[in-house]
Amino acid sequence: MRPVHVGICGLGTVGSGTVNLLQRNSALISSRANCDITITQIGARRDNPNCDTAGLPVVADIFAVAKNPEIDIVVELIGGTTVARDLVMTALEHGKHVVTANKALIAEHGMEIFAYAESRNLIVAFEAAVAGGIPIIKGLREGLSGNRINWLAGIINGTTNFILSEMAGKGREFSDVLKEAQAKGYAEADPTFDVEGIDAAHKLVILASLAFAIPLDTINIFTDGITKLQPQDVSYASELGYAVKHLGIARQTAEGVEVRVHPTLVPKSCLIADVDGVLNAVMISADAVGKTMFYGPGAGSAPTASSVVADIVDVARTMNNAPESWVPALGVNVNNLKKLPVLDIQDIETSFYMRFSALDKPGVLSSITKIMADASISIEAIIQREQPATEEYVNVIILTSVTRESALDEAVARIEALATVRDSVNFIRVEHLD
Ligand code: HSE
Repeated sequence: MRPVHVGICGLGTVGSGTVNLLQRNSALISSRANCDITITQIGARRDNPNCDTAGLPVVADIFAVAKNPEIDIVVELIGGTTVARDLVMTALEHGKHVVTANKALIAEHGMEIFAYAESRNLIVAFEAAVAGGIPIIKGLREGLSGNRINWLAGIINGTTNFILSEMAGKGREFSDVLKEAQAKGYAEADPTFDVEGIDAAHKLVILASLAFAIPLDTINIFTDGITKLQPQDVSYASELGYAVKHLGIARQTAEGVEVRVHPTLVPKSCLIADVDGVLNAVMISADAVGKTMFYGPGAGSAPTASSVVADIVDVARTMNNAPESWVPALGVNVNNLKKLPVLDIQDIETSFYMRFSALDKPGVLSSITKIMADASISIEAIIQREQPATEEYVNVIILTSVTRESALDEAVARIEALATVRDSVNFIRVEHLD
């Protein structure tokens, strides 16, 4: 087999990890690909002290890499969705296969990119785009190809999971932990993408598309981050037997698909509740296999490089076969994807955790339980602590049974309107994942 020439664009956290891994495990990787894999050119504006590029041709112009006639595979690791899109399209125009770790690019421009690649018989591989080092794309697309997927739920942002774990376990401050995540190369260039759930939404769109053979579409995704989460809710949840995790959830229902990202209470007895730090995990419920969980490092230089290199090996092995035998990027060819309605958050059905502050006097709780009964929402658990006589208000915590979010919203509005309730009602969705 002739050697495969790789061009790497971007020498940041993932780019430097990829160069290091390709060099360190060169013989092993080439034997697995059944051909020599060589780094022919690197496109980067500046060197990265975390990797040794001595002896490798580095150019500042990444587009020179995309057009280099010697290169077979262009690896896009620059991030962002503007220049990265142009780079990938240029590489495809010039007949290169593409490997990328860029979830925002795939979520936002994947349909255009995959359609163009398919029309030109080129491969676009993106294992590293979701859950860093976990082979979730191949696991879902190839490993579960015989299954109908019921739902998936994942911790798919390492930074938020790291922040939540450090806050819950060590009582550390949000901003302090975020700084550490940035220093360790976990966080996005703009960390609001992590903490506001945008990064997780990009990844979830990709997983939902693979799971349900629907087009990539970021428009209707309900996205909420962890910035409004209060430590007292983490502690009440714990008392009730739940951990608070930032989850991406995709579920097929009779009415369409739910695709949503938000903080979620999960029972402590559920495996995913124990996934801490920068680790990610994706649970998948499917009709033949039942429930599976894919678990591992979701961010960082070497783990993400592990997925990038796996894609390079895959492309190197596959590119000499007939295109009809290739696995389509989204599991089915772009033309065979079918649009399904994405449910509005008001139409989802789940359980809820509620917390509000109510006057500590007779009849208050009964007026609240009446509102819940009127909305046909059953109360599964309730906490109200004895208070010192000097405290006028008391925290009330309620766990509900499964209900439609629109019904919960109506009950919340009525509770907030009570003169005996102070401020707003905080609520967090609860998933039992069974
Ligand atoms: N910022 C991302 C995370 C990097 O924290 O998970 C991996 O996609």
